[in-house]
This record gives sequence, structure tokens and C-alpha cells, in this order.
Amino acid sequence: MNPNKALWEKGDFTKIAALMRQSGEAVVQSLGITTPLRALDLGSGDGTTAVPLAQLGAEVVGIDIAQNLVEAGNKRAAEAGLSRLTFQEGDASDLQGVDDDSFDLTLSVFGAMFAPKPFDVAKEMVRVTKPGGRIVMGNWIPNDETSFVSQLLKISSSFAPPPPEGFVSPMTWGVDTHIIERFGQAGVPKEQISMDTDTFHFVSPDESPADVIDLFRRFYGPTMNAFEAAQESGKVDDLRRQLVELATAMNQDTDGGTSIPATFLRVTVRL
Ligand SMILES: C[S@@+](CC[C@H](N)C(=O)[O-])C[C@H]1O[C@@H](n2cnc3c(N)ncnc32)[C@H](O)[C@@H]1O
Repeated sequence: MNPNKALWEKGDFTKIAALMRQSGEAVVQSLGITTPLRALDLGSGDGTTAVPLAQLGAEVVGIDIAQNLVEAGNKRAAEAGLSRLTFQEGDASDLQGVDDDSFDLTLSVFGAMFAPKPFDVAKEMVRVTKPGGRIVMGNWIPNDETSFVSQLLKISSSFAPPPPEGFVSPMTWGVDTHIIERFGQAGVPKEQISMDTDTFHFVSPDESPADVIDLFRRFYGPTMNAFEAAQESGKVDDLRRQLVELATAMNQDTDGGTSIPATFLRVTVRL
């Protein structure tokens, strides 16, 4: 089994996505979509951004490597009566069956950054986006103390075995030089690429930061793997303590719930 697919099918990302809905809608609102368009949501999960995009009237295809998330997305689309939203299985680094110049907008919020072969991912996003269209990515930022998920993954990976030879960290998508190089190899000059920092919020009024960490432990593939490794090395308590400390320190909810801001890099590529 493809390890990238296995990682994301391992847990149930819908349980984490439930904390991300408000910010997903806010990202889509901020795109300023005024005309009907055809959009690709790459690494779409169960539709945190694909659903609000379709609710704005766009025709949307969500592509994700995880079969369970594709199913969950199609269920959400049906329940919301969104007939112009479909989810299908696919790999961001090899979008087989997707024609060139298919989409006015290719959006990928914390999705394509997790695919291996980042140069192929950039090439595929450029290939399937129409000339005159745009690509928008949201990427976590490495070594940024305000980028919650990047910190969570940093702690998690310090408890997990070293990655295989040749592994390229997804966090490199949060670094401007890598982005310019990857899109540059796909034929996009750097003048057509802009980058800003933005903030996502992980929100659950009814769950404490410790409860939220326990959700990541039970349902988020990378954190599940870290806990499995920590179990073997007898370090589970240490891992949980570090993650709960992180979430508690970043939490802004003062009423027993959770609201954790998470800085990300927003990349816009104009074709
Ligand atoms: C952190 S989740 C984000 C999901 C969604 N964009 C959201 O904001 O809720 C990462 C997503 O990327 C998907 N993914 C990982 N590698 C992928 C690949 N090679 N091709 C397509 N999707 C991939 C995962 O299955 C998962 O749904």
C-alpha cells in the first residue's frame, strides 16, 4: 500500500476537520469569488473548503488520496444538496485522468503540501489550472511558534522513527524559496507568485485543549503514528504532556473550550 495513502486513511480526519469548518469558510470567503467558476480542491478531505466553495455556486471537484475521506465528502455533498460538488480519489503528484487547463481555481488548504514529490505536485497544479486562472495554497510554516500544526507535527515526529531516505518534509511548502523553486520548475516566474501569512482557528467550544489533543491522538494519522512509536519506547506520557502543553499555551478560549489560532502561509499563483 502507498504509505502516503495509508497514513491518511489510518485515522479519521473528519474528526479533526470538524474543528476547522469556520476557518475553511473564511478562507473561501476571502477568495473574492464573484463569477461562476470551475474549481479543484486538492487534498480536499471531507470538504472543509470544497463545501463552502460549492455553496458559493462554483462547480467543484475535490480530489483526495484517502478513500474514506472521499466517501465522507460525497456524503456531505449529498446531505447539503450540492449536486455540482463531487469528490474523487487521486494523487496530487499525479492527477491521472484530469485534463490540462480544467480549472479556473485550484485550491489546496493543508492538502497538496502532504503529497510526496513536491515538484510533481507544483507541475500538476499548474497543468490542470487554466491560463488566467489561479492556484491558492495554505501551508503550515516550519519552526514558527504560532503555526500550531507545524509545532504539533514537530513534537510528534520527535517521538517517531526517522523518515525514510529521500523523504521531503511537507513543511518545506511553508518556505518561500522552495515555493518559488517548485513553481519555477513548473514554468511560473516568481513575479506571478505572492505569499502572505494568515491565521486558521481550531475551534471546539465543548472540548478542552487536552480533549483536542486526544482527538489528534485517536484520529490524525501522523499523531497516531507518534503515539504508537511512543508506546514502544515507553514515552506516551511524555508525548501527551508536550502536546497538551502546546495546545493549552496556544488556546485563546477562556470558557473551558478550545480556540487555537494557527498561522499559515497563503500562496497565490497567477497563471
Ligand atoms: C490536513 S488534511 C486537510 C484536508 C482538507 N483540505 C481540510 O482542510 O479539511 C490533508 C489532506 O490531504 C490529503 N492528501 C495527502 N496526501 C495526498 C496526495 N498525495 N494527494 C491527494 N491528497 C492527499 C489527505 O488525505 C488529507 O485529506
